Amino acid sequence: MSGEVGEPTAEIFPGLTRDVIERMHNAKSERLRAVMEIVVRHLHAIVREASLTQGEWSQAIDFLTRAGQICSDSRQEFILLSDILGVSMLVDAVDNVAGPGISDSTVLGPFYAGHQRELAQGDSILLREEASEPLVMTGRVTDPEGQPVASALIEVWQTASNQLYDVQDSDQPEGHLRASFLTDAVGAYRFRTIMPVSYPIPDDGPAGQLLAAMGRHPFRPAHIHFMISAPGYRTLVTHLFIEGDEYLESDAVFGVKPSLVVRPEVKDGINTVEYFFGLARDLHPRSAQPPSFVAADNERSSR
Ligand code: BEZ
Ligand code: FE
Repeated sequence: MSGEVGEPTAEIFPGLTRDVIERMHNAKSERLRAVMEIVVRHLHAIVREASLTQGEWSQAIDFLTRAGQICSDSRQEFILLSDILGVSMLVDAVDNVAGPGISDSTVLGPFYAGHQRELAQGDSILLREEASEPLVMTGRVTDPEGQPVASALIEVWQTASNQLYDVQDSDQPEGHLRASFLTDAVGAYRFRTIMPVSYPIPDDGPAGQLLAAMGRHPFRPAHIHFMISAPGYRTLVTHLFIEGDEYLESDAVFGVKPSLVVRPEVKDGINTVEYFFGLARDLHPRSAQPPSFVAADNERSSR
């Protein structure tokens, strides 16, 4: 091997990096060119700094191939990889606004299932009985000044007591433990659910093998997912975690923030969490989907 891992490397073959970057001068999008230049610089730096062998690179390619092969409509291995390597939380930190009166965001995860049934204030999100204790979630959605946001859409989802989401478990009724609510005129929401449980992220594929190889466990602390949207505000993607969970300090996807940890209090004989969500104003509204960098039907470029 030509160098120790992490040793500052003398530039090996610097002309190659320059050449790959220069050949993007006809890129169709300036943003694509700028981001790809950074990607190429860092990829080449990894190879140099790690003194990567041919065998290691071929293992990496095999790993990514297997990650692609395990993906399906209900399994997204690349989201898992992004999550366990802290990339999802970093993108969240770079792309989200924080500040007074604005709730902290966290990872979306792979189990958001799109449009879900809308329930009335106070309804239960269960479609079958569960072994866990009941929980009431209540509170308000406000703007950064603490004023109510009426008619905000609150989408929630969580696992059943068996540690699985409905989309992972054909024994659960479709839509079990997931639903949407609208806040009322004073921004209030209320729904009934069960105490969430900690659970392992899917670890029977390449992401799980990598976790094990890195000496890490696959568990997430108990949480309920929230996605809150309203016109004129940035969509808030977050969770609430339960105080005292053994995995709060070692969440497999690094998603825990102190402001998102709650302690249920018994009210009228039932565990209750009251939580106020603050939405950031959307000062630069963007389309939901950024323009595609690399369209799947890209026409062939001239060589
Ligand atoms: C989740 O909380 O649903 C989740 C997040 C990241 C990876 C796997 C699951
Ligand atoms: Fe989750």
